Amino acid sequence: MRHGGALAQFHDLTPAEESFRDAVLGGLTRRAKEIPCRFLYDERGSSLFEQICELPEYYLTRTETTILGDYAGEIGALAGRHAQLIEFGSGSSRKVRLLLAALDEPAAYVAIDISREPLRRAAEQVAADFPEVPVVAVCADYLQPLRLPALPARGEGRRLGFFPGSTIGNFAPEDAVDFLAGCRRVVGRGGALLVGVDLKKDPATLDAAYNDRAGVTAAFNLNLLERINRELDADFDLDRFAHDAFYNAAAGRIEIYIRSLADQIVTVAGRAIRFAAGERIHTEDSCKYTVAEFQRLAGRGGFRALRHWTDPAALFSVHLLEAG
Ligand code: TRP
Repeated sequence: MRHGGALAQFHDLTPAEESFRDAVLGGLTRRAKEIPCRFLYDERGSSLFEQICELPEYYLTRTETTILGDYAGEIGALAGRHAQLIEFGSGSSRKVRLLLAALDEPAAYVAIDISREPLRRAAEQVAADFPEVPVVAVCADYLQPLRLPALPARGEGRRLGFFPGSTIGNFAPEDAVDFLAGCRRVVGRGGALLVGVDLKKDPATLDAAYNDRAGVTAAFNLNLLERINRELDADFDLDRFAHDAFYNAAAGRIEIYIRSLADQIVTVAGRAIRFAAGERIHTEDSCKYTVAEFQRLAGRGGFRALRHWTDPAALFSVHLLEAG
């Protein structure tokens, strides 16, 4: 069946705009200030994150891409014919091409992402490059319970979720279990999930990956304040805040903050927010796992570990999980 290379469907399921204001004000008036990491990915944030993925220190993307490239054939064979491929947080849809090329007549590619225009462009490109595959774009916050529209189906193909980038590590472990359980519901009985997981390793390598010399990660993190300035009529002075990221070995995670460099008061959407010198806004954690730790987590989310692959240096892992 030739589909013609056009985007089959575009669905906009994004929540109302006002939730950004509520989330920011809610997070900044807490004793331990925090802003949910999904707000890092506006148009500029998404583009800065693409640049992070190319950095020499940020080994995650290229290592995962190599693993996917090396084992795509095996993954395709395990997934079976006519799979519906569903990607949670599709970004530029680059890695998924390795799967689309290896899957046996995929029934559909469903790209889910929060960043509307980048999603549309990326999905249109995939549709043009894989004209045989119906491409469905869903603009949504995949962290919220998701009701997918009816998807193009073929034969007995199963659903294969795809969650690369070690984004699973951006959840606290308990929330990762809930997220996996949500994926389990989306892929249904007989479904599977392919997930990329960054591995525990020496702290210097981890620290460097989140503190690149070119300062792109700092710009990405601080773009959150610029976004708040732009969208919520705020007056953050970018020279008086700094990117702050480090590996917490006891907790097994990178912790990412924006740190205030001075005592200061910032106005956000008409509200005065006070910062002490050294006070931090928590923007993200990135949990690191061993293979065994992650397999246990997957089990709690209702999946059975079918296979996993790593690179020779054991920097990163890709897991194929089956609905249990
Ligand atoms: N999923 C990515 C990771 O945990 C996200 C990320 C990379 C990130 N660098 C960051 C998030 C810097 C916030 C700040 O590696």
